[in-house]
Amino acid sequence: MKRRESLRNLLGLVAGSPLLMGQVPDELTGPINVHEFEEVARRKMHKLAYDFIAGGVEDELTLRANRAAYERVFLLPRVMVDTTNVSLETELLGLKLDSPILIAPTGGKNLVMPNADATVAAAALASKTLICSATGVEKILAGGAPLLWWSNTIGNAAKAQAKNYARRVQDGGGKGIVVTVDNAYQSNRDRNNRNRFDYGYMQTGIPKEGEAVRKPISPATPAMWQPHTPSMTWEYLSWLKEGCSLPIVAKGIVHPDDAALAVKSGADAIVVSNHGGRQLDGVIGTLDALPDCVAAVGGKIPVLMDGGLRRGTDILKAMALGASAVLVGRAPLWGLGAFGQPGVERVLWMLNAELKLAMALAGMRRTSEIGRGLVKRIPA
Ligand SMILES: Cc1cc2nc3c(=O)[nH]c(=O)nc-3n(C[C@H](O)[C@H](O)[C@H](O)COP(=O)(O)O)c2cc1C
Repeated sequence: MKRRESLRNLLGLVAGSPLLMGQVPDELTGPINVHEFEEVARRKMHKLAYDFIAGGVEDELTLRANRAAYERVFLLPRVMVDTTNVSLETELLGLKLDSPILIAPTGGKNLVMPNADATVAAAALASKTLICSATGVEKILAGGAPLLWWSNTIGNAAKAQAKNYARRVQDGGGKGIVVTVDNAYQSNRDRNNRNRFDYGYMQTGIPKEGEAVRKPISPATPAMWQPHTPSMTWEYLSWLKEGCSLPIVAKGIVHPDDAALAVKSGADAIVVSNHGGRQLDGVIGTLDALPDCVAAVGGKIPVLMDGGLRRGTDILKAMALGASAVLVGRAPLWGLGAFGQPGVERVLWMLNAELKLAMALAGMRRTSEIGRGLVKRIPA
């Protein structure tokens, strides 16, 4: 209990309390950055689970492109600015957030541990982080906790269902709906195919040694053809809006024409995302796609971004290129795999602390000061 409290205190850094390294449990101070959290998680996790989370599709070109893009964008920091006080506070779709870092929706958390969605939601609550979640927030909400959450749907292209769903989210206290627009079909994930991964494990978890391995529900072969939302079009957004007054966020856009269409279709925000390199291989890295999407949106709605964010400086670069906020997908899962809930909290704290320091060293006191002049792209 005491241990958990001390971590909470530490997380207060985002709100301005001091960095009290002495109060952090020893095991949590082992990994000193997100990359090292991944390594701890990898050692502790089942190979099937690690590969499911870490992997991309096919040759993983896009997975690598997401990370590589940060290596071509460099910072032009400002100096001699009074950065005694630096604030990460961010306004987004009517919400006042402590930080521009949000938790991306990730299915299959039960591969890491049972009840993982609720565990990550509890970490989000403790660290006052907005979480996008398809499931698992109910237990937290039942306690009356003021969790900030957006519901994630991969959508269902039927008008009545869309409206009912939207109303349910609104009645459940959700602050927004994230519609994943890049998930028309189950993608071709070589790592899962090689592991004979059964997508049913996403719900049940991976069988322990000695437990019967179920017959695969889905054909884990490179030729699988599994529709998710092939008939979903921009109309779906209007149907959702008819059903509620919540902001609708279209997640999974990389083409500037789609960014413009999202605005036209009534989206309240977009997320420039390629699903963490997990849908179509060969897609552009998100930091590279961001500027054109920002230009196409023309300031009409906020543009968010995700993909490959592992450092505070990555986030600073994304915000300099026009992201109002960012989502992290794998990073909190590495915290979860390493140490459970305190690990998720630690990863979030770390990313916030890195971003705050990066802003201070770049002469930025507020997120609203971060702009295009802060970066220069140097082609490889
Ligand atoms: C294990 C896993 C499951 C995911 N499940 C979903 C999902 O259900 N819906 C969705 O919109 N995106 C999903 N994503 C994509 C993330 O929301 C996000 O776009 C991506 O992880 C960002 O890249 P990053 O992991 O490099 O931060 C998933 C990603 C991972 C790693």
